[in-house]
Amino acid sequence: MSAVATERLIRPHGGELVDRTGERPYDVESLDRFVVTAREASDLDMLASGALSPLHGFMGREDYERVLEEMRLANGLPWALPVCLPVPAPPKTDRIAVADESGTFRAVVDVEEVYEYDKEREAELCFRTRDRGHPGVARLHGQDGLYVGGRVTVFSRAEPQFRSLALDPAETRAAFAERGWRRVVGFQTRNPIHRAHEYLTKVALETVDGLLVHPLVGETKSDDVPAATRVECYRVLLHGYYPPDRVLLSAFPAAMRYAGPREAIWHAICRKNYGCSHFIVGRDHAGVGDYYGTYDAQLIFDEFAPHELDVEPMFFEHSFWCRACGSMASAKTCPHGADEHVFLSGTKVRELLSAGEVPPEEFTRAEVAEVLIEAYR
Ligand code: ADX
Repeated sequence: MSAVATERLIRPHGGELVDRTGERPYDVESLDRFVVTAREASDLDMLASGALSPLHGFMGREDYERVLEEMRLANGLPWALPVCLPVPAPPKTDRIAVADESGTFRAVVDVEEVYEYDKEREAELCFRTRDRGHPGVARLHGQDGLYVGGRVTVFSRAEPQFRSLALDPAETRAAFAERGWRRVVGFQTRNPIHRAHEYLTKVALETVDGLLVHPLVGETKSDDVPAATRVECYRVLLHGYYPPDRVLLSAFPAAMRYAGPREAIWHAICRKNYGCSHFIVGRDHAGVGDYYGTYDAQLIFDEFAPHELDVEPMFFEHSFWCRACGSMASAKTCPHGADEHVFLSGTKVRELLSAGEVPPEEFTRAEVAEVLIEAYR
């Protein structure tokens, strides 16, 4: 791959792909050590790979405050969610060692700041609610009460759950360039790809060169379909229904925040780092329960000046199969009444699958349903 080729792709957020991988310092064992949860471990990995460019580490207070209040980093660059390292007590050394839940040392953080934060305020500003029934808010209240800000150096990256799908931003960029793609649309999902998702991705693909199917495989809430099952669904669906030379399947290692609108911005910026010029935002993106309005995650993009994010959101209305149209459609394109529309709630789909019943073909492809039924058994 020549350097010229990737130059045709969108620039990373802030201009440069950050690389925070490095050598294991000889004195790791003697540093104050902190064990982090799966969420921070995935943040570390994304800091290492440049998926969170331009961040070089966990946020200091100035970045944190401005992100909360204005959705910007201290330098003014758009950024929507905190990337922070909670600790129970101030570190005893200037540099700390970070281990994951298995106890394996992964990184060191050069401590620049230790600061208190207000959980209620963070919840209100990031999640638009203080309700502890919201999984993101509940998580926030469960975490330690101080944040450590500072540059990270990751010396031991965790073995990815899906090796063949683990591509860093530099690698997706190289893959796009090799295929000659310039305009690439990214698709975030934490679900199996049902017909509605398939519709969005294909309509989007009609107008660009390539599609990055980028399922999130980091931590999700326990009633979301496990990543291993989803990955199997993606494979059978892509195999049967997508042209391989136009689609790249790769895993997005982030943990879900369930922050709806703000997470949509954050997801778009991360995918820009992976080389996506466009990003799909449909109904209730990254939402949970009924905390967000159906299109709040689209409206939030208006809070930035045109082209400020650079990555272009592609908005989609709630789509469904219409029997009268004989196709996928949305309120924008279909004149028929709700009685013609195939709509199944998540609960209904789970009921069908657990009973070993295949949902209608208009909702989920049979091949995908089979994988799900097998998983529910
Ligand atoms: S998310 O948490 O990753 O957003 P999900 O996997 O359900 O959840 O959605 C992936 C993307 O598809 C999001 O952009 C979401 O808005 C969009 N989406 C899901 N279902 C529909 C639908 N029926 N109509 C329009 N967009 C949808």
